[in-house]
Parts: sequence; structure tokens; C-alpha cells
Amino acid sequence: MTKYMIRGGKPLFGEVTISGAKNAAVAIIPAALLVDGVCRIENIPQISDVSLCLKILDNLGAQIRSLDPHTVEIDCSKIRSTRTEYELARKIRASYYLIGALLGRFGQADVAMPGGCNFGVRPIDQHVKGFTAMGAKVVVEGGFIHASTETGHLKGANIYLDVVSVGATMNIMMAAVLAEGNTVTENAAKEPHIVDLANFLNSMGASIRGAGTDTIKITGVSQLRGGSYAIIPDQIEAGTYMAAVAATGGQVLVKNIIPKHMDCITAKLVEMGVEVEENEDTLLVRRTEHLQKANVKTLPYPGFPTDMQPQITTVLTLAEGTSLVTESVWNNRYRYVDELKRMGASIQVDDKTAVVEGVDHLTGAPIQACDLRAGAALVIAALAAQGESEISCVQYIERGYENIVDKLRSLGADIRAVEIPGENDELEAHIG
Ligand code: EPU
Repeated sequence: MTKYMIRGGKPLFGEVTISGAKNAAVAIIPAALLVDGVCRIENIPQISDVSLCLKILDNLGAQIRSLDPHTVEIDCSKIRSTRTEYELARKIRASYYLIGALLGRFGQADVAMPGGCNFGVRPIDQHVKGFTAMGAKVVVEGGFIHASTETGHLKGANIYLDVVSVGATMNIMMAAVLAEGNTVTENAAKEPHIVDLANFLNSMGASIRGAGTDTIKITGVSQLRGGSYAIIPDQIEAGTYMAAVAATGGQVLVKNIIPKHMDCITAKLVEMGVEVEENEDTLLVRRTEHLQKANVKTLPYPGFPTDMQPQITTVLTLAEGTSLVTESVWNNRYRYVDELKRMGASIQVDDKTAVVEGVDHLTGAPIQACDLRAGAALVIAALAAQGESEISCVQYIERGYENIVDKLRSLGADIRAVEIPGENDELEAHIG
């Protein structure tokens, strides 16, 4: 098992380059299954969730060639099977995109139920609602989701999502691009990665309009051809480094970002007293003054992202006054709070609300990551704390953050990854 040893209390200075967006990559890679030809995908982040997605496709018969660490060519013209390997697919939440992609291209899919959930119930009823409206039969049996069509083809449909779901919006998009006729998704999610998936599919010949608004219209086409596409920068990775500077103090240039995607995070940090200077594709983040309290409510895009909630809550533990954080996307996304309390944070959680009483400082402690963003929050806490912290279960963090140790070290952080022999790396629950 790998652990991170962090000696905190050092402000961060320098430049950090943001990688490609995880939640776009884990959708765009399965979407290559829809394409009869070679897809060249650039700006792929080197993270374990992406490796798993590529392994799943390889197992189905895709030809995959790495051109460099961030560019792959995927050729799905000779897919052998529409059944994913159980052990691989159950490890990653995003394996649900294989249902939409396989069903859309081949009219059938057998995909292992995505693995354990770390923050509350994570149903996929809205995905199933979409597939069913398009004429598929979906049953769960023996740990697999079986989706099939009688004719081998889906038919376009009008679908109103009962909840704003990123996954359902993207899965329906994948299922619909090759379906017969028109599909309209209403109450669709609007996250940047939804627009990215639509742009990828359109660049391969799909006809998708309205991605980024709450109504997405798709006209089915008979085939998608190969092409080249570069994934957008990761909004949450960028936000995490911004939050780290807010917590430790210092000045960092965050490079390779789309400032518009960062507005919801930038606005909150500015409210807390952090200075943020926006340029074309960079943000200069500086914190010299004391942090001020702020209230944060997570919402679907363009609201404040739930995937930044643990990180911003951690920053607020060091702000002057009492802050209120409301998590309105997921149930039970406060499991990391007990770890922050070990470090001296003062936080009371009541259902979806956390009351954060700012403290003068945090102190280093042995702490454990319980999921990806919670893990990132603990890294931020440890960087800001006085003394040394030892973070375990960092495999969660490496699911979504490329080279986090090296990137932080280049900003002057005292962080190192150490191997602890004899302890198991396998994590039971995989989310994301
Ligand atoms: N929901 C339903 N039914 C569904 C689908 C969702 O009730 O069929 C509910 C969920 O229970 C939740 C809400 O709708 O309360 C939003 O869920 P959504 O479907 O939007 O989440 P997701 O697609 O499963 C993605 C990201 C998450 C991120 C959420 C929200 C990926 C692979 N995962 O999950 O990312 O928190 O959107 O933005 O894209 C992460 O990166 O750390 C992460 C957890």
C-alpha cells in the first residue's frame, strides 16, 4: 500500500499544469465503442480510472495504441463481445457508460453492476428510464445489467429526467446518436464534460444540439467515423489546486484551464478573501490575508460542484467565523469530516449541512482517505496543518489526480509517497 507523508505549514508557490478532465475521459473512452474507425483522443489524464476504462475496451476487442502518455488511438471496428469482464467493470462507477455505448452500437449490452457506493445511494433508474423509452429491455441478473433490443436498434424518444443526472444525460446521448430518429432529453445536466462528450461525438459525425443547456436534441445517424479529439481540462483538479493555495497561502499560476468552467469555484474563493486573476487559459491564485467565512451550497453546473465540496469545507475550517456548507447533490458525502476533526477542525454535520467553525490551525495526524475527493481534501488539510500527516488509502486519490505528489512537490510542498510493504492495495468500494 502507498501512503502520503506530508509535512504541512508551507505556502505553495509556482505553476501547475492541469490534466485532461477525468469525468470527460471516462465517458469519451467508452463512447469510442460507437465509432466504426480509429478515434485519436488527446489530453487523456494518466489516472487509474482511465487505465481501467482502456482495459475494459481492450477486453471487448478494441485495438488500443498509446501514442504518448496522454494520447491514445482506439479502434472499435472489430469488437468481439458486448459483455464486459465482471471484475473490471464493477471496479469503476463510470462503467455504466458501457451500457449506453454498447446498446447504441450493437443493440445489446451486459455490464457488471458498478461497484460499492461511498456516499449514499447511487441509483441508475434515470439511465434505465432513457434506454427503456428508446425501446430497450433492461434487467439486472447475476450482478450484471442486461440491456437488449428486439430489432438490434434503439428508437429515438422524448425523455424527461426526474433528477438532473450527469451520468443519465451522457448515457442517453451515447445510446441516441445511432438510434433511429430523434431523441430529446429534457431537464438534462449541463456540466462541461457533457458538452465535451457531445463535441467528441459530433466530431465523429453525430448530430447533437443543445448540450450545455437543459434540452439536448439528437438526430440519429447511421454510422460514426473516426477522427481526432482533445479532452477539456479538469475543472475539479484545477479547483483542488486553487483550494490548496487558499488553505496554505502563497501564489500559484494554474495553467491549462478554461476560466469559464472555474467561475463557480473562483467566485467562492474570492468571497473568502483569495485573490484570483483570470487570463486566457490560466488563473493566478494568491492568498495573503486571513480567510473569511462563506456559505456554500452544492448544485448541478453552473452551481458550486459537489466534487469540490470536501476541498472547500477543508479550506473553511481555517476561515474566520462560522460557515455553512450544504450538500444538495449526494446523501452522506461528509465521511471525511471525522478525519478533519482528528486534525483539530471544528465541524458539526446534520444530514446535508455542515456547520464549520473556523479554527486557528490544524495539526498533522494519521488520516485515511475514504473516496477520491475526500482524499484530495485530506491532502489539502495536511498541507496546511502544523506537523506531519500520514494519509492512507491514497489509491482513491490516484483514481482521479494525475501525478499529484510531483505536482505539489513542484509547488514547494513537503509531500512524498511511501510504499508500505504487506498491506493490500485493493479497495473495496470504487466511486467517481
Ligand atoms: N440519481 C438518481 N438516479 C439516477 C442517476 C442519478 O436518482 O439514475 C441521483 C443521484 O443519486 C444523485 C444525483 O442524481 O443524488 C446526481 O447524480 P449524477 O447521475 O449526476 O452522478 P453520476 O453521473 O453518477 C457524476 C460524476 C461524479 C459527480 C456527479 C455529480 C462521473 C463518473 N461521476 O456522477 O463525480 O459527483 O456526476 O456531478 O462523471 C467524482 O469525480 O469524484 C465524482 C463522484
